[in-house]
Amino acid sequence: ATTRTYDFKLQNTTITKLCKTRNIITVNGEFPGPTIYAREGDQVIVNVTNQMQYNVTIHWHGIRQHFSCWSDGPSYVTQCPIQPGRSFTYNFTLYQQKGTLFWHAHISWLRATVHGAIVIHPPIGVPYPYPSPHEEHVIVLGEWWSADAEVLEKQILASGGAPNVSDAYLINGHPGPLYNCSKQDTYLLNVVPGKSYLLRIINAALNIEHFFGIAKHDLTVVAVDGEYIIPLTTRAIPIAPGQTTEALISINKSCTGRYYMGLGPYMFANVSINNVPSYAILSCSNSSLSSSSILRPNLPERNATSFLANYVRSLRSLSIADNRMPVPQTVDKSLLYTVGLNLEACPNKICGGPNNTKFQASINNVTFQRPSLAMLQAFFFSQNGSFTPDFPDRPIHPFDYTGNPIPNLQSLPATKANVISFNANVQLVLQGTSLVSKENHPIHLHGYSFYVVGYGNGDFNLSDSANFNLLNPPLLNTVGVPASGWVAIRFKASNPGVWFMHCHLEIHTSWGLATALAVRNGDKEDEVLPGPPADLPPC
Ligand code: C2O
Repeated sequence: ATTRTYDFKLQNTTITKLCKTRNIITVNGEFPGPTIYAREGDQVIVNVTNQMQYNVTIHWHGIRQHFSCWSDGPSYVTQCPIQPGRSFTYNFTLYQQKGTLFWHAHISWLRATVHGAIVIHPPIGVPYPYPSPHEEHVIVLGEWWSADAEVLEKQILASGGAPNVSDAYLINGHPGPLYNCSKQDTYLLNVVPGKSYLLRIINAALNIEHFFGIAKHDLTVVAVDGEYIIPLTTRAIPIAPGQTTEALISINKSCTGRYYMGLGPYMFANVSINNVPSYAILSCSNSSLSSSSILRPNLPERNATSFLANYVRSLRSLSIADNRMPVPQTVDKSLLYTVGLNLEACPNKICGGPNNTKFQASINNVTFQRPSLAMLQAFFFSQNGSFTPDFPDRPIHPFDYTGNPIPNLQSLPATKANVISFNANVQLVLQGTSLVSKENHPIHLHGYSFYVVGYGNGDFNLSDSANFNLLNPPLLNTVGVPASGWVAIRFKASNPGVWFMHCHLEIHTSWGLATALAVRNGDKEDEVLPGPPADLPPC
C-alpha cells in the first residue's frame, strides 16, 4: 500500500458558463475539482486549506472511514468547520474499498461547486471481474446556477418555497449544446471502433436525480456505489445525488458517427425542474455533423418510477464471499424510520424548520437541527450540549404512511442520535411517506455500506421480511426510498463513531431530513475509535 497526498486549496475562481462570468468556490481552481486516484488499501492524506470567505468541511462520500470517523467531514456532526484562513488534514485508509466514489463540501450548499471524483483501483495484480476496458473515463454530473449557491440557499430557506431550479445540468462541468450560449461548452469523448470503455459516473448534483444514457448504445453496469454487481445491461441508468455507477460500453466495429450521451431528469414530484437535457458527445470520428443530426439517447420519462423500481430490484452483488462483509442473517437492532416532507401536515402549511427556517422535513417526527458543538466530539468526550441519545427506534404515532387522511405530523427541530452497540446487526426499514408531493428520497449513510435486502410498495409489513434477499443483495451507500414505498437495509455496526444519515437532495437536508447513528466502541483494544487529530478545528 502507498500513501497518496493531495493539497486542496479552497478558493474563489472566475468561470464563464452560459455567457455569464461569475465567481465560484473551487478546489485548486478546478471545476469539477481534482480526481483522487488510489488503490485499495492505500492511505489518503488531504491537506485542506481554506483560502475563501466561507466556513468549509470536506466529506469523502462512500469512504467507510474505518476507525477514522474524525476524517469523515460532515459539518457539526464529526467536526466543526475549517474557518477562513485555517487548514485541516484529512487522513484515512481505503480499507477494503475500491471503485468510484466522490468527495464534496459538506456544509451549506457549497457542494454545488466543491466536488470531485475518487477512483480506487484494485490492488496491483488484482484484475477487474470483467474484461479490461480500453480506457476509463470519469463522468461527473452536476448543476449550474447563475447565482451563488450560498445566496440561493438562504433565500429558499427563508421563504419556505419549493427548491430553486438550476440553470443547467452539467456533464464534467459542461452544459452541452442545447442551452443558450453553450454550443462550444460540450464534453467530448473520442472512442475507437471495436473497443470497450468503462464510464465512472457520479451524480454530484445538489437537487436532481437523473437517467443517464447514450444513443444507440446499451450500458452494462458492473458496479454501484463502488461495489461490484452481477453485470446488468440497460438502456438507461437511474442515478440520484450521492450515487455512483460504473458501466461498460462497447463501440461497434463499424462505428463512424457521433452520438449524444447524457441526462434526462427523474423527478416524480410535480414540481418545476429544468427540462433542457444536458448532452455530451461520444464520437467515433472527427467528421463534423451539425448537432441537430446527432442521435439523442432514448431515456425514460421524467416520472418513470417503475423503470427505477425494476432497475433497483435487478441489482445483485457479484460476490459476497469476496468482499469479506457477510450479509447479516440475524438482527440485533431493528429500526423503522419514516422519511418525508411535512408541509401538508402542518397547521396552515407552516412548519417551524430547523435553524430558523420555514419549511420542515423529518425522520420519525424529528427534524434534524444542526448543533453548535460537533456530535462526535460530544460523544467521544461524553460532553452535553450537542445531541440527546433518544432518537426513536420507530415512529411515535404510526399511521398509514402512504394514504389519507393526513395526520398532524408537525415535528420539533432537535438534534438526536440513535445509539447503537458495537457489532450489532442493524436492520433499518426506511418507510417513505407521501404527505407532500410524492418523492423518491436518496438516503445516504456515512461510515458504512449497507445491503439492500428488500424494496417494496405501500406500508412495510413484518411479513415482507420473508421475501428479503439475504443471499446476494447489492451493497450500497445511498438508496432511493420510493415515494409511498419502503426499503430495508442491513449492516453490522462495526465502525464506532457518529455517522450522519440524510437525504442527498441537498434542499431536503436543509429542511431537516437527516439524523445520526452513534455507534459505541467495542470492548477490545482494537475496537476503539482513536482520539481526535491535533489540528481538528475547534467549535
Ligand atoms: Cu455525500 Cu452526507 O454526504
